[in-house]
Amino acid sequence: MADSVRISERLALPKDSGAPIIASARHRHEYAVHVCTDEPDAMERIHAEIGGRRVALITDDSVAPLHARRLADRLTGAGLAVGMTSFPAGEASKSLNTAARLLDWLAGSALARRDVVLAMGGGVVIDTVGWVASVYMRGVPYINVPTTLLAHVDAALGGKVAVDHASAKNLIGAFYQPMAVVSNVGYLVTLDRRHLRAGLAEAIKKGIIASPELFELIERQHADILAADPAATARLVHGASVIKCQLIAKDPYEDDLRRPLNFGHTVGHAVETVAGYEHVLHGEAVAFGMACASRIAERRGLLPPELLERITGLLGEVGLPVFLTDLPVRIDPAETLRALGQIRKIRDGHLRFVLPVGLGETVIADDVTDEEIRAALTATAEGPGGTDD
Ligand SMILES: NC(=O)c1ccc[n+]([C@@H]2O[C@H](COP(=O)([O-])OP(=O)(O)OC[C@H]3O[C@@H](n4cnc5c(N)ncnc54)[C@H](O)[C@@H]3O)[C@@H](O)[C@H]2O)c1
Ligand SMILES: [Zn+2]
Repeated sequence: MADSVRISERLALPKDSGAPIIASARHRHEYAVHVCTDEPDAMERIHAEIGGRRVALITDDSVAPLHARRLADRLTGAGLAVGMTSFPAGEASKSLNTAARLLDWLAGSALARRDVVLAMGGGVVIDTVGWVASVYMRGVPYINVPTTLLAHVDAALGGKVAVDHASAKNLIGAFYQPMAVVSNVGYLVTLDRRHLRAGLAEAIKKGIIASPELFELIERQHADILAADPAATARLVHGASVIKCQLIAKDPYEDDLRRPLNFGHTVGHAVETVAGYEHVLHGEAVAFGMACASRIAERRGLLPPELLERITGLLGEVGLPVFLTDLPVRIDPAETLRALGQIRKIRDGHLRFVLPVGLGETVIADDVTDEEIRAALTATAEGPGGTDD
């Protein structure tokens, strides 16, 4: 390579100095999502993606002793310079405070602009560390190594990074794409069943909105997936990742608010607000939200009754909440409706519902009434709820 490079620029000034100047900054992002079943394979892929640069591995205090220390040792053994830190596990850590501590740590570690941050953990680690990577030195490369099923099938993909604010979840965030995702389903053997189920909810969602094949795969294999069987979980994570990557490629920065990926999230968010994030897992709230949206669709004559049965049947078999009484804490339907009213206010008077019509087909509706929602919320195993029966 030459020691010096000569650069010539002779840029012209426009004749019309009154016209606005158009600044442009286009960037195309492409990254690989590797799905592996054991750590040696994952290690090799991470090693290849890092390509000899220095590594800052960030995780939480639960994942550190279970998996992250061993991975750090392996990377060190393979000749890389690896620094590692962790923060307390749980949603409360997804904060500006944690981010500030991590930025101090990165500054102290002298991580440079081209070195690599490794975010290893569940959605909390992935979201927090991704956001830190987006602001440190105006952005350093980061690799996601998800360790919960929710992170494998959802949080690790798409580059939505954020920390929470006291007033709202994910309020402080950005779109900042990873340089790679290395999903080792082997890490799921230490994850409890409740978190496996919650992750499965986001995969079932993708099946309903965009892939009958993925839905059928989950129908056939959910028992093996919940037992963290490596072959079954790898097929699931691979399938769900393919579907999510295709959906986000159409609109990576969410310019269009009518997103099928929000299926189950309207009622889901309201339930999370009412119950508190520490009592109901995101996937559980979304599962109940999907059941409600499916009931609304069925009552409108959009979704055939047998498909409603199939959707709620699968959610129920997996052990996810379908009725209010299935949720891990008592939720008042009136309070949930009030929470939805708040969301409606923030969104200019509209509540947007993704209603399934068939597997791989949805309708986005802005005109779902409180009565329809109430009926869907209060439905019971014995029959539909609401005031009109
Ligand atoms: N960015 C996105 O697109 C996106 C999408 C969905 C959810 N999220 C975010 O993800 C977060 C929830 O993620 P989550 O459910 O993974 O929660 P989490 O990160 O809190 O992980 C759940 C618990 O499991 C532990 N854990 C992680 N991996 C483990 C393993 N292999 N074995 C044993 N324990 C393990 C963690 O320490 C934690 O205690 C939320 O903050 C949500 O907003 C982000
Ligand atoms: Zn979600």
